Amino acid sequence: MPGKKILLTGCAGFIGRHLLERLLAEGHAVRGIDDFSTGDRGRLAALGKDFDLIEGDLGDPAKAAAAVRGRELVIHLASRPSVPRSLAHPRESALASVLATVTLLEAAARAGAARVVQAASSSAYGDSPVFPRRESAPPRPLSPYAAAKLAQEAYAAAFFRCRGLDSVSLRYFNVFGPGQNPAGPYAAVIARFIGLMAAGRRPEIYGDGGQTRDFTYVADVVEANLAAALHPRPLEGEVVNVGSGRRHSLRELIDLLNDILGTSLEPVCLPARPGDVRDSLAEVEKARRLFGFEAATPFRRGLELTVAARLRENRF
Ligand SMILES: NC(=O)c1ccc[n+]([C@@H]2O[C@H](COP(=O)([O-])OP(=O)(O)OC[C@H]3O[C@@H](n4cnc5c(N)ncnc54)[C@H](O)[C@@H]3O)[C@@H](O)[C@H]2O)c1
Repeated sequence: MPGKKILLTGCAGFIGRHLLERLLAEGHAVRGIDDFSTGDRGRLAALGKDFDLIEGDLGDPAKAAAAVRGRELVIHLASRPSVPRSLAHPRESALASVLATVTLLEAAARAGAARVVQAASSSAYGDSPVFPRRESAPPRPLSPYAAAKLAQEAYAAAFFRCRGLDSVSLRYFNVFGPGQNPAGPYAAVIARFIGLMAAGRRPEIYGDGGQTRDFTYVADVVEANLAAALHPRPLEGEVVNVGSGRRHSLRELIDLLNDILGTSLEPVCLPARPGDVRDSLAEVEKARRLFGFEAATPFRRGLELTVAARLRENRF
């Protein structure tokens, strides 16, 4: 297939950098946009002639219009992806997710882009009683972040209906892998645990550790985006889970990390946090049916690759 002209928003973020690398390796011409609010500028250096970068806020209509100009496909990752951060700063979360998305969708519709593939979130399910999480279940967001990600989906679907802009919203389930930031109050759980345990420190669990997550390896999320972006038929604003279809408790995660790292660290249990969901597991049938995606990386293998990358970073 000939290379496409693609806009990747949030290209300097954790998932964005993995996706960018893969898109360039597949021969696509990629324009990135990032405001570096959480992204890492250093990792975008020397990416070659098929990559160009616009620095700025996607919520700025002029930047969004410049970013989509001449692009066939848009992959939209830019957001402030953190539940606790959204509880502390709900307005910031809405601006970075909802308003930026509406600005992008309007620019993409005007520019005649063929499709927008956007990152949605499993947090939209919240405390829904339907388990495993099926896309047809009514969402019940528990945090401003979850509400903002849900609103993004609604806007993308509405732009398909009222402006004919094809789109799909991929609800990622707890993504992990090399390059995820292990530090700070908003770090994702696997990156935080590896950071602590690799330094010989006990991991901190909020709650009893029995809570479960469908942890999805970042390379699988990259594959899902490629499959959705390049799918030959319209995806019509659909919402689709992107998960592994398996779940693991935090205690199980710590056991596996102890095994991989050769440590025997016991967790420290802290009070449960508001906005956190108890259990999460994707029903993965729709992604398979709609655009043939299935996660391929076993959990332990994903953890081994993530730990190995972390230990390499520490050594150099
Ligand atoms: N990591 C996960 O487990 C997970 C789970 C579900 C959904 N998601 C979604 O996936 C996407 C990517 O997540 P990530 O983990 O790579 O996050 P990240 O914070 O590493 O990356 C987000 C990127 O977007 C940029 N950005 C934020 N607001 C912007 C704006 N207004 N204009 C331009 N750039 C902006 C940031 O600087 C950053 O580079 C997000 O939409 C997130 O909601 C992530």
